[in-house]
Amino acid sequence: MFKIKNIMNKKKILVTCALPYANGSIHIGHLLEHIQADIWVRYHKINNREIFFICADDSHGTPIMLKSKKMNINPKDLIRFIYNEHISDFLNFNISHDYYSSTDSKENFILSKKFFLKLKKKGYILEKKIYQLYDIYKNIFLPDRLVKGKCPKCFKKNQYGDHCELCGSVYDAKDLINPKSELSNTSPILKKSTHLFFDLPVFENKLKLWISSGVLNKQIENKIKEWFKYGLRKWDISRDSPYFGFEIPGYFKKYFYVWLDAPICYISTFKKLCKKNKNLFFNDFWKCSKKTKLYHFIGKDIIYFHSVFWPAFLEAIDFRKPNKIFVHGYVKFNKKKLSKSKNILITARSWLKYFDSDSLRYFFASKSSNSIKDINFNLEEFINLINSDIVNKIVNLASRCASFINKNFNGFLGNTLLDKDLYNRFFYKTKKINNFYKNREFSLVVRNVIKYVNLANNYIDKNSPWKLSKINKYNKKIQLICTMGINLFRVIITWLKPIMPDLSKRVENFLRKELFLKELKKPLFKHKILKFNHLYSRIPDSLKYVF
Ligand code: MSP
Ligand code: ZN
Repeated sequence: MFKIKNIMNKKKILVTCALPYANGSIHIGHLLEHIQADIWVRYHKINNREIFFICADDSHGTPIMLKSKKMNINPKDLIRFIYNEHISDFLNFNISHDYYSSTDSKENFILSKKFFLKLKKKGYILEKKIYQLYDIYKNIFLPDRLVKGKCPKCFKKNQYGDHCELCGSVYDAKDLINPKSELSNTSPILKKSTHLFFDLPVFENKLKLWISSGVLNKQIENKIKEWFKYGLRKWDISRDSPYFGFEIPGYFKKYFYVWLDAPICYISTFKKLCKKNKNLFFNDFWKCSKKTKLYHFIGKDIIYFHSVFWPAFLEAIDFRKPNKIFVHGYVKFNKKKLSKSKNILITARSWLKYFDSDSLRYFFASKSSNSIKDINFNLEEFINLINSDIVNKIVNLASRCASFINKNFNGFLGNTLLDKDLYNRFFYKTKKINNFYKNREFSLVVRNVIKYVNLANNYIDKNSPWKLSKINKYNKKIQLICTMGINLFRVIITWLKPIMPDLSKRVENFLRKELFLKELKKPLFKHKILKFNHLYSRIPDSLKYVF
């Protein structure tokens, strides 16, 4: 009774991933973030926590407008096409979003408009005429990513208009030395236009307090504190035509900058989820932080948006702020940055041509911790890891035990544990596994899975049921040794369930038993298992050259 009450009293959780841009395919970089979040969400769902996972496509902005122009289609058609592709890619990787929306939705427009008017009424929106780089050949103000020049601080060539990749300094695109438009390869001019600014500096003190409250890990917290040293600047939230986005109410041909309506989409998507799930109350999640928790999973490139703009904006509209922001590093392929233009990109679709989704989930889990270190992806390492851990160790444990149970004992497990101490070691470790999941230390889950599956395989080796079988196939001891093996296998797969949902489903079917961490105290006795069927395929070595 106490336990049930305890679960009911626990706060409900809302989890988000950053919204992927709708100008390209989902790739393994995006998947790292969604897999990390999904493992965490699944872990909680399996354990009966009320947790909701939302995301959406970031469908606005100049690149999408330019791409649709190039393809000669309406941007709305382009984003609809990409939306469907993204949804199916996430589904194929078992990412269990409760709702996946788009920033271009009606709900998002209504909220963006409403919040903007609220900010205006409260005096947080300021108008200012500014000069910006303008491409006179393409008739467009250039966003930071479409202009390159020399860094004004360290003079490194070929740097984008927002920050320098070499020295890390952040600057205004106008300050680039010798800027060139990426669209026409010509020198842009400076052109004046009225812009709307959000009065970020007003929130400086509150933000400093919030950032020190443990919402980010220390390493990131210190980095953000450095940004504060230079003081906060007013944030430009408007863009000029031509642009694909929401028009700002009361202004002619001015659009909300994508980074305004994108985070608002966390809110509007949840609003849509509330319509679907009548037990959810919008205000519990967004107005007050007492009843619920809010967590954002993001990559390290968008820390500033989520730890400065976003909480200030939420403060300004009187909404709650996130409890934690979980930041991950970049996925690199053979130590190189993923890049579409340099053809270093593994998309979700190309992945599934050769491999299954559980294998990528396992690989990323084995590399995931609390840190923002980059994760290197190397196919040879990946193939070795899967073949050695999943095929040779984990599945092999089941296969060699099941064959005796199936053939000699009619599929029935025995009625006792030969080595209770060994089973208890596994059972007691489960508490630690729970904590690793809670703290998002998935690499420690994997490390312990391997340590313990080795113990289980050693046990089988030491007791060698195949030797006993040569003398008497029906010797009860064979059944009991294999009962140990199958029960230890059950623990291992239960530990892995949030990481490898497909494999664990096949195992649940084979064991004729759903797998739950909280049920591991009771081993399976006199229980009938199915005939051992193929659980996982070895990856051929030849696939190490496919990308
Ligand atoms: N649209 C913005 C996010 C808006 S959130 C209100 C955006 N989109 S993105 O498609 O560029 O990136 C989406 C997420 O994927 C970000 O958290 C980003 O860090 C992550 N990744 C994109 N490429 C990545 C890697 N190569 N490696 C790991 N994560 C990467 O930013
Ligand atoms: Zn520089």
